[in-house]
Amino acid sequence: MQTLTITSPDDFHLHLRDGAMMRGVVPDSARQFARAIIMPNLEPPVVTTAQALEYHGRIKAALPAGSRFEPMMTLFLTDNTTTAELHAAGESSHIFAIKYYPAGATTNSENGVTSIDRIYPLLEVMDEIRLPLLMHGEVTDADIDIFDRERVFIERILDPLMQKFVNLPVVFEHITTREAVEYIKQGPDNLVATITPHHLLLNRNALLAGGLRPHNYCLPVLKAEQHREAIVAAATSGHPRFFLGTDSAPHFKRAKESACSCAGIYSAHSAIELYAEIFEQAGRLDRLENFASRFGADFYGLPQNSSSITLEKSDWTVPVELACGEDSIVPLWSGQTCHWKLK
Ligand code: NCD
Ligand code: ZN
Repeated sequence: MQTLTITSPDDFHLHLRDGAMMRGVVPDSARQFARAIIMPNLEPPVVTTAQALEYHGRIKAALPAGSRFEPMMTLFLTDNTTTAELHAAGESSHIFAIKYYPAGATTNSENGVTSIDRIYPLLEVMDEIRLPLLMHGEVTDADIDIFDRERVFIERILDPLMQKFVNLPVVFEHITTREAVEYIKQGPDNLVATITPHHLLLNRNALLAGGLRPHNYCLPVLKAEQHREAIVAAATSGHPRFFLGTDSAPHFKRAKESACSCAGIYSAHSAIELYAEIFEQAGRLDRLENFASRFGADFYGLPQNSSSITLEKSDWTVPVELACGEDSIVPLWSGQTCHWKLK
């Protein structure tokens, strides 16, 4: 049987939630990944170092016995974040980045930044202390079509910001468009991008054709096929400024199957297997390890993991749904065949 052994990967964009849901989902990530950047969009959001350290403790307590999975914490940036809080975050060994959501962009982002100018003084501090900024790369202006949100973000928000803050490490998260790929490629070394398994696997037909499919609804929304092809090419190109971030974002089935479905796709269940699928389809399995286990760690100045994982080429069916406490979650690729299986 064909097998593939790689250095244990890290997930540089993960939603673990809290409470019962967290306890339900955290074993899935811990099985595959050694470390993960944990999103702070809880209700209420994680805005202080003290809150992030408590959340870190709750995640650690929810891990399966013996797991060495390391949550890398982040703070949620608001209009009211203080420079003192940024310095505290910078000094903490558990906090790795600050997350920017435009207000109202996505799930639990009501407390996000209302106008980028308001946070420029904070970005000056982050630039000085080299504290990475993770950007949900969309504008939310009512006059912008939802499929254009990412492209307009580059013009209105990202490009001016990159011109001004030349040392600030910036992650353009979950990129979905050809324009984003081009912008990263011609950008400086302090600008990188993460790519999700769902944006690599699916185009917007998977959301809208043959019926509305809420389990494929996420933000940024799935794009047209030409954009999917551009991000597959970027992920499998071997370019070190593109790396793995699942944006696995669990919601209970009943919240997804609703008249106003929440944004978020749960991919953590079989993330590394689905990435392997994509890299194999592109004829670039040899580049999976750098994308999944090296480039992200390099960007954050972290050592590579000393452990490894092994995938074997064997067909299996992703479960239709997963029990989670009293509820259930429908995972990405639900009921479909995956050709790689984590040993
Ligand atoms: C995320 C969530 O549910 O928290 N949803 C999503 O569609 N990706 C929020 C986010 O990161 O946008
Ligand atoms: Zn996210």
